[in-house]
Amino acid sequence: MKALILSGGKGSRLRPLTYTNAKQLIPVANKPVLFRVIEAICAAGIREIGVIIGMDENGQRVRDAVGQGGRWGVDITYIPQEAPLGLAHCVAIARDFLGDEQFVMFLGDNVIEGGISKLIRDFEQAEYHCQIVLTRVEEPQHYGVAELNPDRSIKRLVEKPRNPPSDLALVGIYMFDAHVHEAVRAIKPSWRGELEITDAIQWLVEQGYNVHPYIHRGWWIDTGKAIDMLAANAKVLEELTPAIAGFVDRESRVDERVTVEAGAEIINSVIRGPAIIGENTRVVNSYIGPFTSIYHHCLVENAEIEHSVVLEHSKIMDVPARITDSLIGRNVEVVKSELKPRALKLTLGDHSVLGLI
Ligand code: G1P
Repeated sequence: MKALILSGGKGSRLRPLTYTNAKQLIPVANKPVLFRVIEAICAAGIREIGVIIGMDENGQRVRDAVGQGGRWGVDITYIPQEAPLGLAHCVAIARDFLGDEQFVMFLGDNVIEGGISKLIRDFEQAEYHCQIVLTRVEEPQHYGVAELNPDRSIKRLVEKPRNPPSDLALVGIYMFDAHVHEAVRAIKPSWRGELEITDAIQWLVEQGYNVHPYIHRGWWIDTGKAIDMLAANAKVLEELTPAIAGFVDRESRVDERVTVEAGAEIINSVIRGPAIIGENTRVVNSYIGPFTSIYHHCLVENAEIEHSVVLEHSKIMDVPARITDSLIGRNVEVVKSELKPRALKLTLGDHSVLGLI
């Protein structure tokens, strides 16, 4: 069995972070989402992974970060896509890589509780032509939606329906055998100009192929927007096994759900977990609250922050108000200015959001 990870797309809902990085490389609990996807695939025993990337700088960034896969003991093949033409288009351009083998397709910005090992095992043992993963959501109109028959077989699948026939959304994890290639050739682009995988699966259902819906009951997050990123971060932090590898001084209070990575220093501070402090980050005279991830080489001094994600090499110093629900990029400085006049002094990138009190 092979795996196909989709790691293209523009990440427009995560601007400005995605102007300079691929959305799949943004970390949750101090590890890029894409690395978590690779680890889940690896844990399911799959060693041959195709990665769809854009033909842009973000594509190159994914290549640079992931490399040939040696770190995980897997073989990575990159498959460049000229434009985001749909999930089924990704299957079409991966045809040579996939051959006639079974494969799992996994969206590189999805995080799912419990991994995929059981799903893969079930798919390999059963006689399904395709297995999809469904979960109940509050706003099904933003997803592919499944309508089931009373016997729980699939009646129909629709992509982003205005009037959803159910609240069962398609999670970005799909398992196929070679029949999907026929389906992908048979469908036409949707109203948004994309070859939809939902339409390809609907075609399989119509042709009488055995498409099995698995209903996932744990959490699942599609990290498309900042708020989803924070939610994913919180969920993953809750699952993390805490460890203190860095230095915590006697004046600090760090509770048992906190991870302090190697080379980090906690000085005269309070950290309430679940939280993670990255390598070589310094936290001085500060409060770090629950559901916070501070990545490597940051400085937090005389500041309070909770339910937030801070990326590498950023500096948060002498901030008079508590920072919460925030996603802060790389090399960012949030510092008190002593220069007159006493006013907010901002250098914000395009599409930045600043919530004032
Ligand atoms: C894609 C699929 C949709 C699925 C979703 C899961 O949507 O088209 O069926 O529910 O991923 O994340 P997109 O991210 O392209 O809007």
